[in-house]
Amino acid sequence: MCGIVGAVAERDVSKILMEGLRRLEYRGYDSAGLAVLEGNGLHRLRVAGKVNDLADSLKQSPLKGTTGIAHTRWATHGKPSVENAHPHICKDQIAIVHNGIIENYESLKQAQIANGHAFQSETDTEVVVNQIYDSFSDTGNLLEAVFAATDKLDGAYALGIISPSEPGRLIAARRGSPLVIGIGIGEHFIASDVLALLSVTQKFIFLADGDIADITCDGVVIYDENRKVVKRPVSISELSHDVAGKSGYRHYMLKEIFEQPRAVHDTLAGAFNNGRIDETVFGQKAGKLFDRVKAIKIVACGTSYHAGLVARYWAESIANIPCDVEIASEFRYRKSVVHPDTLFVTISQSGETADTLAALQLARHSGFAASLAICNVPESSLTRESDLVFLTRAGAEIGVASTKAFTTQLVALLMLVTVLGRRLGMTSETEAAIVGQLQQLPGRINSALELDGKINLLSKQFINKHHALYLGRGLLLPIAMEGALKLKEISYIHAEAYAAGELKHGPLALVDEDMPVFAVVANNELLEKIKSNLQEVKARGGRLYVLTDTGVQLEKDDDIQVLKVAHVEDSIAPIVFTVPLQLIAYHIAVFKGADVDQPRNLAKSVTVE
Ligand code: AGP
Repeated sequence: MCGIVGAVAERDVSKILMEGLRRLEYRGYDSAGLAVLEGNGLHRLRVAGKVNDLADSLKQSPLKGTTGIAHTRWATHGKPSVENAHPHICKDQIAIVHNGIIENYESLKQAQIANGHAFQSETDTEVVVNQIYDSFSDTGNLLEAVFAATDKLDGAYALGIISPSEPGRLIAARRGSPLVIGIGIGEHFIASDVLALLSVTQKFIFLADGDIADITCDGVVIYDENRKVVKRPVSISELSHDVAGKSGYRHYMLKEIFEQPRAVHDTLAGAFNNGRIDETVFGQKAGKLFDRVKAIKIVACGTSYHAGLVARYWAESIANIPCDVEIASEFRYRKSVVHPDTLFVTISQSGETADTLAALQLARHSGFAASLAICNVPESSLTRESDLVFLTRAGAEIGVASTKAFTTQLVALLMLVTVLGRRLGMTSETEAAIVGQLQQLPGRINSALELDGKINLLSKQFINKHHALYLGRGLLLPIAMEGALKLKEISYIHAEAYAAGELKHGPLALVDEDMPVFAVVANNELLEKIKSNLQEVKARGGRLYVLTDTGVQLEKDDDIQVLKVAHVEDSIAPIVFTVPLQLIAYHIAVFKGADVDQPRNLAKSVTVE
């Protein structure tokens, strides 16, 4: 999704802006641009392409300045083009970059056209720059102009604003879309996330919703939504500045897949006390709030939603607690019945997903017992607005396709159902067994990673495939869904997952020798059932690829290719089986020559509806 960088300094900021844009590339975008102030001049460069294209353009026409803003655009209103790329400028007086969607842009546009504005782009953003220009003409003060203009906007925005009439001043505004301020020594910055600025600072202020900041080299003054000056805390980021490196891997996604043993280990660090899960990992108030909880409601999107689906199986089978899971974009627009003893759980890698955030905001006024965010980004909007927080410690995830964030979400959810189950009759033996299995998990994931070579060889077979089916049962059905999502996201092969028992109710009609069918098979009470489902596929000539563990014996059959992970206990099987499915998607995408880390049309942080 769109990325913003801005800077005000006594040195040339164009290199800082370009480095920031590079670090935001992972968010997904289709055009890029920057604008700087040099003396009283405003200079802009934009390209419909990648940050490298912008860098080439900069070589041809260098820009230098001490105040500037830059942007990567993920198209919403209007195609990717130079005209639609940011920064947008009004009459050489105001330049802005924007992330978000202005919902009342059509009515504002009509009013502005009536006032004599001529539009240069198809974007919703252009109404913002015009509105600020009009207010600036009235007030003669950039900050006052932003106060007045933002009062007229409906929707979500993070904005960076500069004007050649006030060089050395950068205004930032935030409502709904994320924005951080980076604190330097005699220089200050803004960005959509901290990763963009790690090469210039480790100190950050996270703007609250409705905040507007007046930023100069000398300092930062923040106004809250009532236009009162407020102090926001300064946080020191623990991320190192080369966090965005690939450490020798060909893609971020592969690096992140291989980081999973470490990510799980870090997520479990400090979680156990005398062989039990220490519930304060969910927050100091967790014990008291959990005492009330008799049911769980989980809301999330995409991969995080799949983590929620696994949790439902765990919650009801291990912990005896009812659990309902829903896609955030559905939950937020439907009337639902809330039982007051229900814990509302959001799951999000980024903590900024607009639908999940809106669902949380709705839930906070709907009578749930408490809210818990399971999130990989400290100080994200989701963590700030939840009663309880579990921070997964996957580390920054750059590949758009979520991998290590997912497996660490599963770890958090298994711990959550265990501490809730304790209150509902789960035995201490069951808890001890789960703790033991969690402690084994990094090692189990390492063994699953050993399949990488085999999977690489196997993946060549899929280069010309256009469709694939994924099958699973029980706890492994959501894992089949996640495998299918990974494949379609990065290889653009159409893939669907089904509960294996549903095959005969429709999808079996699709099966022929051209249809690869991936089945994820656990060594549990459903084994014989899914074996029968595999026969149904075989009888129709389908090509079967079975992912299972060494404890499962399948009859030797040349039509079935089998990949086996080392023995894995049932409760952690979903986490371990995820890893080979990630590798399958990765290698197929690489063979197809796809842009693995930045798949087309997708964004890492989906901050608009
Ligand atoms: C994951 O591979 C996807 N890119 C996507 O489905 C993602 O999980 C979804 O957009 C939710 O994001 P979040 O976890 O940051 O809320």
